Amino acid sequence: MPVPIVIDCDPGHDDAVALLLAAGSPEVDLLAVTTCFGNCAVEDATRNAVQVLTLAGVTDVPVAQGAAAPLAGQPALGNYVHGASGLDGPPMPAPAFDPVAEDAVTLLARTLRESDEPVTLVVTGPMTNVGRLLRDQPDIAPSVREVIFMGGSTERGNHTPTAEFNAFADPEALDVVLTSGVPVRMVGLNLTHQALATPEVVQRMAAMEHRVGQTCAAWMGFFGGSYQRIWEFEAPPVHDPCTVAALVDPATIQWREAFVAVELTGTWTRGTTVVDLYRRYPDRTPNARVAMTLDAGRYWDLVLRALDRLGRR
Ligand code: RIB
Ligand code: CA
Repeated sequence: MPVPIVIDCDPGHDDAVALLLAAGSPEVDLLAVTTCFGNCAVEDATRNAVQVLTLAGVTDVPVAQGAAAPLAGQPALGNYVHGASGLDGPPMPAPAFDPVAEDAVTLLARTLRESDEPVTLVVTGPMTNVGRLLRDQPDIAPSVREVIFMGGSTERGNHTPTAEFNAFADPEALDVVLTSGVPVRMVGLNLTHQALATPEVVQRMAAMEHRVGQTCAAWMGFFGGSYQRIWEFEAPPVHDPCTVAALVDPATIQWREAFVAVELTGTWTRGTTVVDLYRRYPDRTPNARVAMTLDAGRYWDLVLRALDRLGRR
């Protein structure tokens, strides 16, 4: 049976590939998409999400716009990576449908409450929408099968030397989720930096004789340029689809139980995830499963399979 999921995202090039992976994989059932500020302003993320689903030929999945700013403080934006539109590079199809009038938290709550089984929340941007939902409606927790999120790191950061962007963008919201008691899986930079779109991978996208493959290859060109310019990567880490891949093919990622906290007050370290891999805090019970090892070949095979399936529809 397909796993029912909602993707809460900030597209963003890698979010876009995550949406396509979900849309092109029968192992998951994409019930809804919600958007958040992050890689760009939330209005741009929402437009981008609708255009990506249009590219995928998916017009019956509701998209709801969410938070324009974090639970506390001002929004950090990632246009320096993803461009002015948040999804710079190839032209995108005109949106084939409009977002729903509900806001993201309303759609999340309705989707969870109407489902006849618990729903997996896949979060690939700042945690603001899901954090607000669990803070304001804690009774909804039993309807959440798990939260699997791209964010944090067991090692260094990216947006700051110690903090990964999504965690930095709303650490208070991430703290709500980490302390909520809801099952959590964390897919941090230590994992996603194993998901590199190498020239061989991009060539497999470019060889697809349809718009989905061609668009993804062009996205990798823009995204790769940002990663080379800012962080000196030879190939871009395609972070967000790793969350969906774990649901499509559980053998793709190896996990480890650990206590995870997020720094809220550090002058230099706000937004840093502290991952206790070796039980150095014996009184802190593990509250998450942390992604540690990616089977990159398996990952890219399932991503490319999904892209080609969509392109040939
Ligand atoms: O740090 C990488 C994460 O921040 C990814 O989800 C990327 O899309 C941005 O949101
Ligand atoms: Ca993202």
